[in-house]
Amino acid sequence: MKGKGPFKAGSAEAALWQRVDRNALPQHIAIIMDGNGRWARRRHRPRIAGHRAGVEATRVIVETCARIGLPVLSLYAFSLDNWKRPEKETDFLMNLLRRYIRRELAYMKRNNVRLRIIGRWRELPRAVQEDIVRSVEETRNNTGLQLVVALNYTGRAELVDAVRALVAHAQSNGAKAVDEDELRRHLYASDLPDPDLLIRTSGEMRVSNFFLWQLAYTEIWVTDTLWPDFAPKHLLQAILDFQQRERRYGGLSPEAAQRRQRPAASRSESRRTDLVRN
Ligand code: FPP
Repeated sequence: MKGKGPFKAGSAEAALWQRVDRNALPQHIAIIMDGNGRWARRRHRPRIAGHRAGVEATRVIVETCARIGLPVLSLYAFSLDNWKRPEKETDFLMNLLRRYIRRELAYMKRNNVRLRIIGRWRELPRAVQEDIVRSVEETRNNTGLQLVVALNYTGRAELVDAVRALVAHAQSNGAKAVDEDELRRHLYASDLPDPDLLIRTSGEMRVSNFFLWQLAYTEIWVTDTLWPDFAPKHLLQAILDFQQRERRYGGLSPEAAQRRQRPAASRSESRRTDLVRN
């Protein structure tokens, strides 16, 4: 990159960024931010201290994504299932998320970031809704990073809401054939591309009810790093690893597809490896 890059010259991040193919950046990264509680426990501190530190990590990662020119970043901030936690913790999380949305508004406006909220956020306390509406409205026309925050969200609830909306639409406009495109049109943010890359921190190997429809062909990258410790260098490493992956969407690798076009005699030699690889 010519001129000033997004990272301090000579830093570990600048070295990683040098290796990233800027023309093959993921278009959408989704993150399951996990491990705030464990981060706090390891320091003999209350869980809320982990959430506070998690907000700081979030701020840095959002700024990094905006600086490197990522089009969409989605963060799983609060699941419908998180209501199972003690009231003290859920109250704290609601206030923390509210403060984040309010405080970051100035940053988002200055840096052309568009905030979008997905989930059943209309069921959240009125004060939270008001902050959401304000920040979403005031950043609506921004054309840089789209920051999608999943609040009061689960993938299953999104699918239920999509089906409900689809049925309501069919009742008032006449039934249409239901296919994948029609269902997708009723998801919370149907204009967004599916995530290319899902990052999960703290080592858990599950998707925890996040983006169940959208993750169909997403590449998954898991790190043992706990969310409050997740830094730009981890994000860049995830992008580098993603760029090494071969995405086949259920088809063949370009190599195997090419072999299929070769004459039958030379094809038979490679049949065994095809079976193994696909
Ligand atoms: C996971 O830690 C994190 C959450 C439950 C969500 C809250 C996320 C934040 C506060 C980060 C900030 C996000 C925004 C959008 C400002 P955990 O409590 O599940 O950790 P544990 O599994 O170690 O207990």
